[in-house]
Amino acid sequence: MKRIGLLTSGGDCQSLNATMRGVAKSLYEAYGSDEIEIYGVLEGYKGLIYGNYEQMKPKDFSGILTEGGTIIGTSRQPFKYMRTPDENGLDKVKAMKDNYKKMKLDCLVILGGNGTHKTANLLKEEGLNVVTLPKTIDNDIWGTDITFGFQSAVNIATDAIDCIHTTAASHRRVFIVEVMGHKVGWLTLHAGIAGGADVILIPEIPYNIDSVVAAIEKRTAEGKKFSILAVAEGAISVEDAALSKKERKTKYKNSPYPSISYKIGKEIEEKTGQEIRITVPGHTQRGGGPCPFDRVISTRLGAAAAELIKKEQYGYMVGFRDGEIIPVPLEEVAGKLKMVDPNASIIKEAKSIGINFGD
Ligand code: F6P
Repeated sequence: MKRIGLLTSGGDCQSLNATMRGVAKSLYEAYGSDEIEIYGVLEGYKGLIYGNYEQMKPKDFSGILTEGGTIIGTSRQPFKYMRTPDENGLDKVKAMKDNYKKMKLDCLVILGGNGTHKTANLLKEEGLNVVTLPKTIDNDIWGTDITFGFQSAVNIATDAIDCIHTTAASHRRVFIVEVMGHKVGWLTLHAGIAGGADVILIPEIPYNIDSVVAAIEKRTAEGKKFSILAVAEGAISVEDAALSKKERKTKYKNSPYPSISYKIGKEIEEKTGQEIRITVPGHTQRGGGPCPFDRVISTRLGAAAAELIKKEQYGYMVGFRDGEIIPVPLEEVAGKLKMVDPNASIIKEAKSIGINFGD
């Protein structure tokens, strides 16, 4: 009898259920439902720390391919939190190990992003059998070309930009669409290109506001009625990029701007005199069900994770590189961020059609 745990951690995304379904169906196929028990650890690492889990049945994985969110719940626990005892003095790492043993697991399958992978690697170092799967709309996990959730989020952010086009043109306005992505620009870059944005600002290419203003004024001079900017929530100006983290914190301590887009909008308004509007699709980008691309990638990644379990090959993230599904050692993934290369050909191609990146 094999006993496998499933755990989803960090911000949710569209294709978590589809991925867990891939893992479970593949395991049930291989072992038969009498020879394998799957346990859902509830609400992320919190469930492992405090021993909240429940046995799942094959029917739990039916009908969830298209369902967004996660049927076992999730929560955010920063790596630092894992290392500090709770208010009752509980050693969280020890508690996770104890509960893993209590559940008599052969392996814990962990679906998560960057923070999740740091903790997963810690559990591996502590001797637990883990296999991980790369989840995030940000697409910033090292060791894989693509994360599940990313493409679905690109679709939603692109839809938001598409919808802005007609209203921007009718009113002769400059519109900023602020796109999620945390510290990286993958989502903004892809949605910006797909949505036909005129300016794309991403953290990896610090912007110069005068370059952005020049791009807008050029469009106005050419008789274009509107401009659309896709701005990453983590976008940063050249001036701010030159400051230390601490200096930036002090500078923006009492900032009147709820986010970077509002600061950029104000500056454009002052410099061009044009009317500005800001749209923040926010968590809608993580909501709803997975797009067909994600359903396929999730099914494949899930099945590949099951394959590692069958071979008792633990301590890997299942990644997707150059069209192939590959196991990536967890220690290579943990603690690294996959950022957009400012010299990548996608950026050059986007620039060649006239998209401004603020540089
Ligand atoms: O990592 C996914 C993500 O949606 C980021 O793009 C965003 O910065 C962050 O999570 C938002 O986190 P929360 O849901 O905790 O507000």
